[in-house]
Amino acid sequence: MPESSLLRLAIFASGRGSNAMAILSAVRSGKLSRIDPVLLVCDRENAPVLEKAREAGIPALQILPKEFSSKDEYERRILSHLREKKVEAIALAGYMRLVGPSLIEAYPDRIVNIHPSLLPAFPGLHAQKQAIDYGVRVTGVTVHFVDLQMDHGPVILQKCLSVSPEDTEESLVERLLPLEHETYIEALDGLSRGLLKISGRRVVWRPD
Ligand code: GRF
Repeated sequence: MPESSLLRLAIFASGRGSNAMAILSAVRSGKLSRIDPVLLVCDRENAPVLEKAREAGIPALQILPKEFSSKDEYERRILSHLREKKVEAIALAGYMRLVGPSLIEAYPDRIVNIHPSLLPAFPGLHAQKQAIDYGVRVTGVTVHFVDLQMDHGPVILQKCLSVSPEDTEESLVERLLPLEHETYIEALDGLSRGLLKISGRRVVWRPD
């Protein structure tokens, strides 16, 4: 496959980075054969994901919001790096920050996110605890396009998991994580192959 047909992807992360690493290892193993991960952006000082990304051989930038006078200025700095690297799409992978208009306008329908619940249930922080507290018997993960509202844009893919009465927040976090990785890789593969078409709130997958 010629280089030019690869989707140049930036990954945004804030912490541990297991989704980011799952994406990078899927690229290495050939499961994400149409993706070229060109940059990792992290908004937290010394987050573990920075070191992991560098070890995996991807340039990793720490860009701290507190060093900018506004969100717009912060996002414009990020944008200048994205342009320099000719980034075409962004995967949020545990990026604990709402994406603002500057980035959304620069990448319309080109930013995706993973969330550990079946949206629209349990958006925001601690989705697994919300699921336990509510007492749901089924939860899951959602990959969706990003818009200006938190955990809100059109759904690309969802997978579900039964919740047992013995589950705790911790056990659910642990059991959902492999499902997050699997679902994100499948969704990113669809994106990179140009299989996803947004029609209103719906994402239509065309056959490969
Ligand atoms: C994941 O559960 C992700 O869905 C959520 O934040 C967590 C990040 O985990 N948005 P990791 O940094 O990818 O390990």
